[in-house]
Amino acid sequence: ARFLEKRGELAGKKALVTAGPTYEALDPVRFIGNHSSGKMGYALAGELARRGAEVHLVSGPVSLPAEPGVHLVKAPTARMMYEACMELADYDIAVMAAAVADYTPVDVSAQKIKKGDGELTLTLRKTDDILAALGARKKNGQLLVGFALETENEAEHARQKLARKGADLLVLNSLNDAGAGFAVDTNKVTLFYRDGHSRDLPLRPKTEVARDIVDAITELF
Ligand code: CTP
Ligand code: CA
Repeated sequence: ARFLEKRGELAGKKALVTAGPTYEALDPVRFIGNHSSGKMGYALAGELARRGAEVHLVSGPVSLPAEPGVHLVKAPTARMMYEACMELADYDIAVMAAAVADYTPVDVSAQKIKKGDGELTLTLRKTDDILAALGARKKNGQLLVGFALETENEAEHARQKLARKGADLLVLNSLNDAGAGFAVDTNKVTLFYRDGHSRDLPLRPKTEVARDIVDAITELF
């Protein structure tokens, strides 16, 4: 019954979700990127759609199917993901679950880079931060959710990221727990709020974590 009550509660709302990694090409056969299955972002997009939102899922290269009712926009690079999100900046709810590459090669070789005898040095340029850009232009009534992955001082870094990027809610992925992370279907997260408080969610399948996160979003809305 509780599930049925929730159906339609986000009707008329437009949601933007990013998911997956981005691949930054070095040459025609190689790239720099992050580990990311895209499962958390796809699950969030599906859950938002089930609650009635019009969902636009901007996805890096993953091989998952978008759930019914989700508009899928493929954006394989950080640049393309940034541009796709700026086009959708009139959202009501935005959830930035993508593992966007922080750096991209300054030069992309037209031919495969051949191996030499010595070391190979790459020059990388910082990519634009999509979450921070949306935070800077956030309008009244818009709700912006970020993700974070940290390997040390997790809570402190999460609070700093929330404030720095202008998000309303930050979802900290826990890497230290067995059963959470890139390759598995379960996840354990902590929610950080603007007023400084945080909430630990239990280790659960990513589809159920998505439900909890969307519950938190609708509570804030
Ligand atoms: N993010 C983004 N665009 C980028 C980099 C990150 O939108 N170019 C978003 C991610 O989707 C996530 C949040 O910013 O919602 C935090 O990402 P994270 O990698 O944890 O933080 P960074 O600010 O990139 O800092 P660092 O990787 O140095 O910890
Ligand atoms: Ca990063």
